[in-house]
Amino acid sequence: MGEVRAAIRFILNDEDVALDSVPATRTLLDYLRLERRLKGSKEGCAEGDCGACTVLVGRLRNGELIYRSVNACICFVGSLDGAHVVTIEHLSAPDGPLHPVQQAMVDHHGSQCGFCTPGIVMSLYGLWMTSPDPSTSQVETALQGNLCRCTGYAPIIRAGQAISQYGAPAVDPLVAERARIKARLATLGGGRRVEVGQGRDRIIVPASADDLASAYLDNPEATLVSGATDVGLWVTKFMRDIGPLIFVGEIDELRGIVEAEGALVIGAAVTYAEAADAMVSRFPQLAELWGRIGGTQVRNMGTIGANIANGSPIGDTPPPLIALEATVTLRRGGARRTLPLENFFIAYGKQDRQPGEFVESVQVPLLPAGERFACYKISKRRDEDISALCGAFRVALDARGHVGSVRIAFGGMAATPKRATSVEAALLGQAWTETTIEAALPAFATDFQPLTDMRASAGYRLLAAQNLLRRFHLETTGGGQRLTREVA
Ligand SMILES: Cc1cc2nc3c(=O)[nH]c(=O)nc-3n(C[C@H](O)[C@H](O)[C@H](O)COP(=O)(O)OP(=O)(O)OC[C@H]3O[C@@H](n4cnc5c(N)ncnc54)[C@H](O)[C@@H]3O)c2cc1C
Ligand code: FES
Ligand code: FES
Repeated sequence: MGEVRAAIRFILNDEDVALDSVPATRTLLDYLRLERRLKGSKEGCAEGDCGACTVLVGRLRNGELIYRSVNACICFVGSLDGAHVVTIEHLSAPDGPLHPVQQAMVDHHGSQCGFCTPGIVMSLYGLWMTSPDPSTSQVETALQGNLCRCTGYAPIIRAGQAISQYGAPAVDPLVAERARIKARLATLGGGRRVEVGQGRDRIIVPASADDLASAYLDNPEATLVSGATDVGLWVTKFMRDIGPLIFVGEIDELRGIVEAEGALVIGAAVTYAEAADAMVSRFPQLAELWGRIGGTQVRNMGTIGANIANGSPIGDTPPPLIALEATVTLRRGGARRTLPLENFFIAYGKQDRQPGEFVESVQVPLLPAGERFACYKISKRRDEDISALCGAFRVALDARGHVGSVRIAFGGMAATPKRATSVEAALLGQAWTETTIEAALPAFATDFQPLTDMRASAGYRLLAAQNLLRRFHLETTGGGQRLTREVA
């Protein structure tokens, strides 16, 4: 281990902050409201759903300063080293004129009780800085993670589209002063490990992947935290004491996306938002799914590596990644191993991962020409909802129109993400016809004995899975029409 810095440093609005002591699981929202008395950001749900706590977090990315909306209620202060945190209080002084986003909300009657309003303003602010004249669909996407229970969304969307009538992003402080903020942020980092606190309250922000490997070997009991969209809820909802924490989200070597040897290699700490272009351009069939993982804030925080590492049976990326024959690379100390993703999931809550071993990257082979692929998410709400089930289908037909190869994987149907091997066997070698599909449907009951829970009954899950195979067949034979939607 090299030199250690004993303070977490970030910029809060226009103030430099250095914390040499902070509880490991202190959320940004509690820090703002309870310690800094910045009460504009609200707590609605404390689980990343409602967006009332939305703030912007700016980070240097390849020399650019990029701001993203995040949910402060599930973001830990320890993760903010090197960041610029912008809260609603930064938009206008108490006695100053309203910011263009605020004025648009007032003039378009975008607020009633006002509880959701700071979060909505921050989401719209983040959008307006990059898209001053957004389409309705862009505004809707930016607000996927913001719930309003009294105004109704039409006035808010109108406000979101009118902001540029009240001012231009070019003269907004976050845009106009970008060079100054970038210079300040550049002085915060420095390639050193950050370590603060003792025992359960110990926070480690490794300087590199090597540093992470040694920190995790030395502290295998520590909880790794990437985007905290799972881990944050362990604290706010389940009151778990999960320290010490090792923050992995800003480690450069875990943040790359490259295409190599016919595969897309995605670092474990790449967020959904950062991976969107690379994934959707290579796998356009994932456009709809990608736009329906969480809401915008969750996609800005949550990572693909952790969606795999958490071993959840209802994570949205494992089914398509398994269908695409993805592999996952794990690292423990200096040793690496790569295994097929489907083998990583052993049983409910049990993955093939040793103490001190972490997910480093996932490799996704590109689809050979001519292969059919699709992925469908079924959830109660369209946006910001966990899947009841998620199915991914991939088939290659031979010259006679028979199934030459087939991979089908589901989430929400078993204790782990799992392939439908009996269904696959029933399809393999058969003519790709409706008769074959109907004959294969009973095999779903061999592969899966799903649970009944609050998201769906066992019977619904089985029937829906069968119908998704029917749908896939129809779409690949020209009998169905795919509805897709713009992805943020
Ligand atoms: C409002 C809301 C909506 C959501 N919607 C969806 C959805 O639609 N679909 C979906 O699939 N999920 C959804 N989620 C769940 C969550 O966003 C995803 O599982 C996400 O991918 C988790 O990533 P993270 O970086 O935030 O994980 P974290 O919370 O940081 O970590 C999750 C787990 O992974 C471990 N971990 C993190 N990084 C590593 C690593 N490199 N190696 C080993 N272990 C590691 C952590 O220790 C922890 O056990 C939602 C969550 C919220 C709060
Ligand atoms: S308080 Fe609801 S998302 Fe944070
Ligand atoms: S204005 Fe009341 S919740 Fe949105």
